[in-house]
Amino acid sequence: MRRMFTHCRLVSMHTDIEQADGFEVLDNAMIAVENGTVIAVGRGLSIDGFECCSLENRLVTPGLIDAHTHLVFAGNRAKEFEQRLNGASYQDIARAGGGILSTVKATRESSLEHLIELAIPRAKALISDGVTSIEIKSGYGLTVADELKMLRAAKAISEHVDINITTTLLAAHTLPPEYQHSADAYIELVCNEMIPSVAAESLADAVDVFCETMAFTPAQMARVFESALKHGLNIKGHTEQLSNQGGSALAASMGALSVDHIEYLDEIGVKALAEHNTVATLLPGAFYFLRETQKPPIDLLRAHQVPMAVATDFNPGTSPFASLTLMMNMASTLFGLTPKETLYGATRHAAKAAGLHRKGQIAVGFDADFSVWNLGSPAELSYQIGLSPLHSRYLKGVKTHD
Ligand code: NIG
Ligand code: FE
Repeated sequence: MRRMFTHCRLVSMHTDIEQADGFEVLDNAMIAVENGTVIAVGRGLSIDGFECCSLENRLVTPGLIDAHTHLVFAGNRAKEFEQRLNGASYQDIARAGGGILSTVKATRESSLEHLIELAIPRAKALISDGVTSIEIKSGYGLTVADELKMLRAAKAISEHVDINITTTLLAAHTLPPEYQHSADAYIELVCNEMIPSVAAESLADAVDVFCETMAFTPAQMARVFESALKHGLNIKGHTEQLSNQGGSALAASMGALSVDHIEYLDEIGVKALAEHNTVATLLPGAFYFLRETQKPPIDLLRAHQVPMAVATDFNPGTSPFASLTLMMNMASTLFGLTPKETLYGATRHAAKAAGLHRKGQIAVGFDADFSVWNLGSPAELSYQIGLSPLHSRYLKGVKTHD
């Protein structure tokens, strides 16, 4: 299939050329696609041998990428939202057996089919926001069988909706009740049984760990990462969300694609991200919903030129928000990112965080995943919320949504 998209107002995210409003928009651009891959981009391309498709001067961006979600789960945590408003903290609720563990209970009790059924409308909500790729984590199973069930459910979503999915094993999310007094034995199970099973069945692209006082220590995280790397999987971390444990620097030094949350990251940690080319993934939904007051160190991340991604962290406990453009808005309003930084965060830098080397930009050699918008300028993407400005989406050059 050779297809030429014409009349694009193109925001390729490929070049770093600064324009007055911060974005480079190429009017009347063309995108040539062969077998799902972009083979030429620019003005005045020859259309011989191509099927032509005019995008009618609409704004075209790379398909948005949500690089951090917990989209597969059962139950909901509205009660805990209420408890927090009555004074309990996220940690108090977890200590009392609620929090992540209450979602673990509901998820263990659900069949694979039911988990898929529950996840589809969440994926559709992201799709209607212009998302073409999602990363989905396990972490609410915490047994070999239930973690595998979650990952199978995550992968199956793309059989029902048009979306590209990457999966991450987050078995080290919290200590399951069966291992309450033997964290190291659970870490052994993760390293010696879960990671090998997941790798053998190619069920995950990466392995994640929640490194926090209420979860796992940096040393335990390092053991999990060693096993993941040995099995050829990428690594990434939930780090410095509630306190500074040094997890981000350690994860970066081991080659993590990204470290996520990072409200409590210090300059040593930021320098480690810069040195190891690790993406800082900002999750403003969790910051907002937990009414956190400590902001991630944006100025330091900028000063050290650390790429920043922006993701939904969609989950029932800390970020029940299935809108990436809302997160882009929050990254601006709560953390001070510019609209351009937020669009980088949801495209090019998100691709890097998710290990998607052929996505996140509209450029030669990249997958032809793009979103077409009824918008005047790219800054408007994170400006108005709830008005569905998406016109259409293309995955590997094929139209998938109107
Ligand atoms: O990204 N920080 C830990 N994990 C999730 C929350 C999971 C939950 O509370 O269900 C997060 O915020
Ligand atoms: Fe998360």
